Amino acid sequence: MFSGSCCNHYVKDCQAIGACIQNMLLTIHELDLGGVWLGEILKNKEAVRELLSLPKELELMAIVAIGHPRDRNQKSSRKALDEFIVFEK
Ligand SMILES: Cc1cc2nc3c(=O)[nH]c(=O)nc-3n(C[C@H](O)[C@H](O)[C@H](O)COP(=O)(O)O)c2cc1C
Repeated sequence: MFSGSCCNHYVKDCQAIGACIQNMLLTIHELDLGGVWLGEILKNKEAVRELLSLPKELELMAIVAIGHPRDRNQKSSRKALDEFIVFEK
């Protein structure tokens, strides 16, 4: 996923890309495939740019790895919602 965003819309564009990736991951799940959002790759974004010969105005946002999961039974833990959502009283 890449952004070619200018400064005025940068935050909103990053949010939109995040939402797009989440929708992609839900669709991947619906198609009975496996998908992983990879953000650590950002540490090597210049190497990715060179590898893919990408123009300077495109900024790497993430990689989404898609494939056929070997193991479908793994469970992951989640933090409780109230750890990061403020419910208005
Ligand atoms: C913004 C973001 C970046 C992530 N980056 C990585 C990553 O670079 N490497 C990785 O192994 N998992 C990464 N993850 C976590 C996986 O995408 C996935 O959520 C995690 O493996 C748990 O899997 P589950 O959602 O099926 O429980 C990232 C998740 C998010 C939301």
